[in-house]
Amino acid sequence: HRDLLGIAQLERHEILYVLDQAEPWIDLNRQSSKHADLLSGLTIINAFFENSTRTLLSFEIAGKRLGADVVNMHAAQSSVKKGETLIDTAITLNAMRADAIVIRHASSGATQLIASKVDCPVLNAGDGQHEHPTQALLDALALRHALRERGEAAEDFTGLTVTICGDILHSRVARSNLLCLQALGATVRLCAPPALMPAGVEALGAQPFHDFDAALAGSDVVMMLRLQTERMQGQFIPSPREYHHLYGLTKERLKGAAPDALVMHPGPMNRGVEIDSDVADLIDRSIITRQVEMGVAIRMACLDILTRRARQVEGWA
Ligand code: CP
Repeated sequence: HRDLLGIAQLERHEILYVLDQAEPWIDLNRQSSKHADLLSGLTIINAFFENSTRTLLSFEIAGKRLGADVVNMHAAQSSVKKGETLIDTAITLNAMRADAIVIRHASSGATQLIASKVDCPVLNAGDGQHEHPTQALLDALALRHALRERGEAAEDFTGLTVTICGDILHSRVARSNLLCLQALGATVRLCAPPALMPAGVEALGAQPFHDFDAALAGSDVVMMLRLQTERMQGQFIPSPREYHHLYGLTKERLKGAAPDALVMHPGPMNRGVEIDSDVADLIDRSIITRQVEMGVAIRMACLDILTRRARQVEGWA
């Protein structure tokens, strides 16, 4: 693959390859000196048409730790505000001879469109409600690490039940994680209020739930998602208080999951709505900050792998 546009394009062995390639970067990132000069001389453009803290910063840090020149384009300060189209923006970035372009955009399929107009690898940093592949990869790496630390790790997630709860309808994180976790052998339960559950998830192999306690029963991992109010178009949703009552992860509610079930959240969190602080900060159970840490390593691996052709280096699964 030249680009990383979605988990849907990856085979199981390719997902495992990316996770394995990220391992050395975890070690490097834990040292005081964090530099490798693998991408020295290359230019990476992060073009973000939507807000981001974790994804933008971790792609920037990843590129810089690998020695690349990293430039960030924030749509709010760009000529997009003067009416420039996405295609013209892509052609402009391409003319600057970037060696990789990382795109976040509010429209599903925007990264694919840009990939079709440029000569370099394109990495999807989240496109609308479609996919957020590096999030799913970093989640898999964080989960694998946490399981290995407990001595429970196998090569993949066979036998594991993961519940993803929240605004499934609007969530590119849910879609990418569903594909990634299933490819690695996990059973995935999706839980949402009826208005926020997309149709046909059974056809994707997921188990749908509207009752959070029923979904939690026996779950080994609970991944919480926020309500994406910025993407909602008239769906009925409960008030934050009602939502918390029905779908908020509390310490009491977590007791219904498997003993020592792990808690995940891609961020940003709305504490007190979909997750209580005393669960989000639960030592040995919550791996939310570990997800952020793994984000840098995964993005280093993805940048390394996808620029190998330009660097005339062998190897992509
Ligand atoms: N998880 C995630 O994509 O976070 P940001 O929106 O802060 O990048």
